[in-house]
Amino acid sequence: KTCILVGAPVQSGAGQPGCVMGPAAYRTAGLGGALTSLGHRVEDRGDVAIAVPAPMPHANDAVENLAEFVSWTHALTVAAADASKDGLPIFLGGDHSLAAGTVAGVAQHAAALGQPQFVLWLDAHPDFHALDSTESGHLHGTPVAYFTGQDGFAPALDTPTAPVPAENVCMMGIRSVDRAENLRLAAAGVTVHDMRAIDEQGIAAPLRAFLSHVAAVNGRLHLSLDVDFLDPDIAPAVGTTVPGGATFREAHLIMEMLHDSGLVTSLDLVELNPFLDLRGRTAKLMVDLTASLMGRTVLDRKTRSY
Ligand code: ARG
Ligand code: MN
Ligand code: MN
Ligand code: MN
Repeated sequence: KTCILVGAPVQSGAGQPGCVMGPAAYRTAGLGGALTSLGHRVEDRGDVAIAVPAPMPHANDAVENLAEFVSWTHALTVAAADASKDGLPIFLGGDHSLAAGTVAGVAQHAAALGQPQFVLWLDAHPDFHALDSTESGHLHGTPVAYFTGQDGFAPALDTPTAPVPAENVCMMGIRSVDRAENLRLAAAGVTVHDMRAIDEQGIAAPLRAFLSHVAAVNGRLHLSLDVDFLDPDIAPAVGTTVPGGATFREAHLIMEMLHDSGLVTSLDLVELNPFLDLRGRTAKLMVDLTASLMGRTVLDRKTRSY
């Protein structure tokens, strides 16, 4: 494959600074080399940048950095649609607000190809607030609502040109949901496998069911991986740790199954805050998970088809 690295040093959506250093940390941890050693071609497009925008007020006073969110969403939609034409984009975040743009952009490309777009959202949080429902005001809590075309972003942002149907979004690892999100998620029809469900069924069965469906309808699959999906003991470098996260083995199993499926067409690596890391541990784990996704295995084995 041709992997296109796109740095997205976004931190305006998070409650504390540090994610701006994410793209540099992934490069320092050897992401490019890990991919080339697996036989992929790597093209690093550097970091996307935005001009400092004029402040944009909102009726919800809690909302922080709305103008930056709008600029990043526009810039990353374009960068993602472009990179999708040339290979498999890997977006190096940056906080999760960047997914408003990256998913809108890859979905535009899928629409041009006439294929349905799916999203696997691996996160402790559903990030399903609209601008008027967020209480923290941190816009990394909003991207899924934006790219699925929910109300509540106008007039700051128009509905994306190719919204991802809420039924095409599968979330796993969810264990911190605000009240407003709970109501909105149920109404929209997103599939949510919370930690209770993972504890009962494991990770493999629900993932296999989702992948079979994506394959059956010839879908394209975007993976959005939030560092806080992982347990804080193995991945401390994130501002929004929630106890009880995915284990090292669960996370690698997911990546290996995704690789075998051959369905993943784009990837976000988000919420890494290198300022909070311990000797690069979290950055290295995220690189290793990406390597598993892109074909690194323990033993050579026949791949399984879905
Ligand atoms: N739901 C909380 C909020 O809206 C947490 C969001 C965390 N999102 C994230 N991408 N880390 O503030
Ligand atoms: Mn704040
Ligand atoms: Mn998130
Ligand atoms: Mn999260």
